[in-house]
Order: sequence, then structure tokens, then C-alpha cells
Amino acid sequence: MYRILIVGLLSVTIASPGEQVWANEGAPVVTVLVTYHSVSGSTEKMAAAVAEGVRSNPQARVVMKRVGNVMAEDLFSADAIIVGSPVYWANMAGEVKTFFDNWQFKFGVFPDFKMRNKVGGAFATGGQVSGGKEITMLTILAAMLGNHMIVVSGGGAFGASATTEGHSPGIDEEELEVARILGQRVVEVAMAVKTGLGSYKSVVP
Ligand SMILES: Cc1cc2nc3c(=O)[nH]c(=O)nc-3n(C[C@H](O)[C@H](O)[C@H](O)COP(=O)(O)O)c2cc1C
Repeated sequence: MYRILIVGLLSVTIASPGEQVWANEGAPVVTVLVTYHSVSGSTEKMAAAVAEGVRSNPQARVVMKRVGNVMAEDLFSADAIIVGSPVYWANMAGEVKTFFDNWQFKFGVFPDFKMRNKVGGAFATGGQVSGGKEITMLTILAAMLGNHMIVVSGGGAFGASATTEGHSPGIDEEELEVARILGQRVVEVAMAVKTGLGSYKSVVP
């Protein structure tokens, strides 16, 4: 395990290959797992921006991992989970669906609803403007709802998304910004849930 201290305020821990953990020094109030699938890197860029949005709040700790590397401890120790997928045939990628299926097969979330009241959010990238990004985010949120999680939007109506091909190749700054806002919003709601509704004042516009 490597631990690097940056300017005494933020520490980055690389606990295992493919895992990054950012924690502000002091006492984090909420832990957010940002997990994603990505082949050509676009969804990974969005994941990094979502994580940036999370850690912009000094009371948040973020763990960023690919879906295939998530362990039971990552899932159950998180207060909130933000899941990202490329659009494959107008839906989430098979790897992300398998991740959700493994909540039961590997992690046994049912019948105790072990994910109950954790906060959830979604992000997606798709090649086409209208190729299924919103369906992809909604199916991610639907899997969370089925697990009695509290799902939230942020950045956009259903989460954060980016168009990556055609006239809008790659991820632009506007798309990165909606991803950061999603991260901020999930932290905001996770804090409200954890500390008690009404005791947390909104900092996100
Ligand atoms: C098998 C496959 C199916 C795809 N289906 C869609 C689709 O239905 N709609 C769409 O907008 N893009 C589709 N795409 C494009 C990807 O969603 C897009 O390139 C995405 O940004 C890739 O993410 P990544 O760079 O994180 O791997 C598809 C790509 C692949 C490989």
C-alpha cells in the first residue's frame, strides 16, 4: 500500500492496482464509491470528474474503482455509490449489469437489503447524441431502487452524461463540469441522510 501526502491536506492512497482513494485529512463524514466500466477511456474520464466533485467537499472520502474490482467491503462501507457505464445498445454495458447481479451472487445483498438507504447516482457516455444515455442512467438507478437505495440526479435530470463520437468526440469541459456537479450533489444528499435531514445546509447551486 502506498500513501502519498499532498500539501498536508489531501492524501491519495493507492491500495491495490486499479484502485484510488482520496481522503481529505481530518474526519471524513461520508465515503463515496465511484465505480465504472470503460474500454476506450471516456467513461473513465467522467468517473475522474465525478470523483473530483466528491472530493471538492472536505468532508468526503472517495474510492474510485472499475466495477470488476469492487469488493464487498467497498460496497458496504460506502455511504453512497455512483455508477458509470458506456452505452451499449441503448443500455448499460454487460460488465455493469454483471456488477449489479453480483450484488446478490457475490455479496448477498438480498433478503436483508444491505444497500438500503445508501445514496446512489449514475453517469453514462454514449457515441450518439440520442443513443440511449438516459435509458442507461435510468436502468442503473432502477437497479439501485430495487435495492432500496435513495437515488438522486445531479448535473443532468438523471445524472451526468457525455456524447463521445461524431460531431462531439471525447469529453469536453462542459461534460466534465456536469460530472463534478453530480459528485457534489451525491455528497450533499449522503451527508443529509447520514447526519439527519434538516441539519445540513446546501452548498451546491
Ligand atoms: C458494443 C457497443 C455498443 C454501443 N452501443 C451504443 C449505443 O447504443 N448508443 C450510443 O450512443 N453509443 C453506443 N456505443 C458507443 C459507446 O457508448 C461510446 O463510444 C462510449 O463513450 C464508450 O465509452 P468508453 O470510452 O468509456 O469505453 C456502443 C459501443 C459499443 C462498443
